[in-house]
Amino acid sequence: MTVYDAVMFNENAPLFESIANDIYSKGVSINTCALPSNMTALLVQYIKDLPAQSFQRAGVGRGKNHIINEVIRTDDIAWITDDNVACSTWLNWTSSLQSYLNKHLYLGLCLFESHFAYYKKGDYYKKHKDAFKGEGNRVLSIVIYLNKNWADEDGGELVIYNQNTPSPQDLHENKTLVSPTMGTIVVFLSEEFPHEVLTAKKDRYSIAGWFRGSRQI
Ligand code: OGA
Ligand code: MN
Repeated sequence: MTVYDAVMFNENAPLFESIANDIYSKGVSINTCALPSNMTALLVQYIKDLPAQSFQRAGVGRGKNHIINEVIRTDDIAWITDDNVACSTWLNWTSSLQSYLNKHLYLGLCLFESHFAYYKKGDYYKKHKDAFKGEGNRVLSIVIYLNKNWADEDGGELVIYNQNTPSPQDLHENKTLVSPTMGTIVVFLSEEFPHEVLTAKKDRYSIAGWFRGSRQI
């Protein structure tokens, strides 16, 4: 561990511990306004300055199965690379979280990929899963939000469906709504939780990322 890693670890230990406990006990972790505020500020500034042409229409499916499908999702995305301070701060933070989760939950995470997502007014992402059993190697999904002053009437909530309570009477308890407010962090097992993004009523910014295991397809 370098000195830098040690500082990163100490600063984030309580948060990482609560994410690990939640993933272990429930498979999903929701942390309202929990992202380190200096990193959030860097990311907000970066996304504000990002030229519109950096974003591309998001698609669904991988590799040669990748298609643009506006029935499923209408957001724009920009893949994250570490050639600037904001994104390398983010990638160091996710790498530190990855090490923590590997150490405490033996998840064997070894790769991470992430993109900014921009939903303009009217955009949505219908119910989907980020990975399917036996088909991919996305193990853990993370989403963070970068929106100041998000009100209930602004829509755009992330809805997480809990597959483990399938009885129809429980339907009202079967989903959790997360408001995309600044600094909120959601982490969940990619194969276990179908989720969707409700129609946003104003500009909505997030980062979605995936930790992969070693299995390559
Ligand atoms: C995704 C996703 C959720 C969100 O990009 O796969 O589910 O709230 N994003 O942005
Ligand atoms: Mn998703």
